[in-house]
Amino acid sequence: MTILVTGGAGYIGSHAVFTLKNQGYDVIVLDNLVYGHQKIVEDVLKVKLIIGDIQDRQLLKDIFAHHKIEGVMHFSAYTYVGESVTNPAKYYQNNVVGTLTLLEEMVNANIKKFVFSSTCATYGVPQFLPLTEDHPQNPINPYGKTKLMVEEIIKDFDLAYGLKSVIFRYFNAAGADPSGLLGEDHNPETHLIPLVLFTALGKRESIQVFGKDYDTPDGTCIRDYIHVCDLADAHILGLEYLLKGGETEAFNLGNGNGFSVKEVIETAKKITQKEIKIIESPRRVGDPAILIGSSEKAKKVLNWHPKYANLDLIIQHAWNWHLNSDQ
Ligand SMILES: NC(=O)c1ccc[n+]([C@@H]2O[C@H](COP(=O)([O-])OP(=O)(O)OC[C@H]3O[C@@H](n4cnc5c(N)ncnc54)[C@H](O)[C@@H]3O)[C@@H](O)[C@H]2O)c1
Repeated sequence: MTILVTGGAGYIGSHAVFTLKNQGYDVIVLDNLVYGHQKIVEDVLKVKLIIGDIQDRQLLKDIFAHHKIEGVMHFSAYTYVGESVTNPAKYYQNNVVGTLTLLEEMVNANIKKFVFSSTCATYGVPQFLPLTEDHPQNPINPYGKTKLMVEEIIKDFDLAYGLKSVIFRYFNAAGADPSGLLGEDHNPETHLIPLVLFTALGKRESIQVFGKDYDTPDGTCIRDYIHVCDLADAHILGLEYLLKGGETEAFNLGNGNGFSVKEVIETAKKITQKEIKIIESPRRVGDPAILIGSSEKAKKVLNWHPKYANLDLIIQHAWNWHLNSDQ
């Protein structure tokens, strides 16, 4: 069975491809390589890579005409929250118009199983914790809005065309495959754990901690980190759920345990045995004190059992990758 993975040369997509392949699926990756890594797809994952853009309608028609694709996992998007505020057009164009083009061509080709990477950023400022799937969705930046718009499009495409989707709202993806072959390689990097590890490696002088006066036990923000391999496993379960006739549903994917910025830095110090210099900075606008998700629905409906819901393992695996890779 062949699955098309858009954004499969990126961080989470490459881990999903690895898991799909290990479970016997044939995979085709479509990635424009704006942020993805050709070498990872060709040398490590060893699957077919089509270098192209999801906004290229003719390319999509050709792919669907020449390959018997049973389902699509859609990771490709622009993901920088700050840039989405200063350049929203870029985000609406790629994340919304691009996805709409992909969905339309799926319908034209009669491909009706879709797994979508959404985000906890669609919830906005939490009204209660942990966040459950029925929490109101009021995103506070264009990035989150693009993902919510696609969620709405997906629901309308189900009603109109019978296209069935699993929407995954990830919390903070982190870690790396335990093999050390794959890992997180964003450029520019904005995520806390790789930035802390770059500091441990001496590639950055210090790590900025934004706000130390939040209403949390140590005053720094608390976030929910989910191991990228647990995300990948959930994607296979989501796909199988759809293949068995499952209805369109949204699921949170987090580990349910929050860790503060200070805890992340302390854990990284312990694992790397390196000094990590901290610069204390003012709070950033729009950063809630605590973001933690409940993933009980994914556990119950998809039978998802995260294997690495543990900050030490997440940071250890990320560290192994950083030590082995040539980033
Ligand atoms: N990393 C996280 O913590 C996180 C959290 C929530 C949601 N997400 C979502 O998960 C998905 C994957 O995130 P990631 O961290 O792996 O990002 P990433 O940037 O590593 O991967 C995205 C990939 O999509 C490709 N791409 C972008 N636009 C494209 C286009 N128009 N056509 C073809 N390819 C295109 C990029 O080249 C890249 O390889 C994204 O949709 C993101 O919004 C990520």
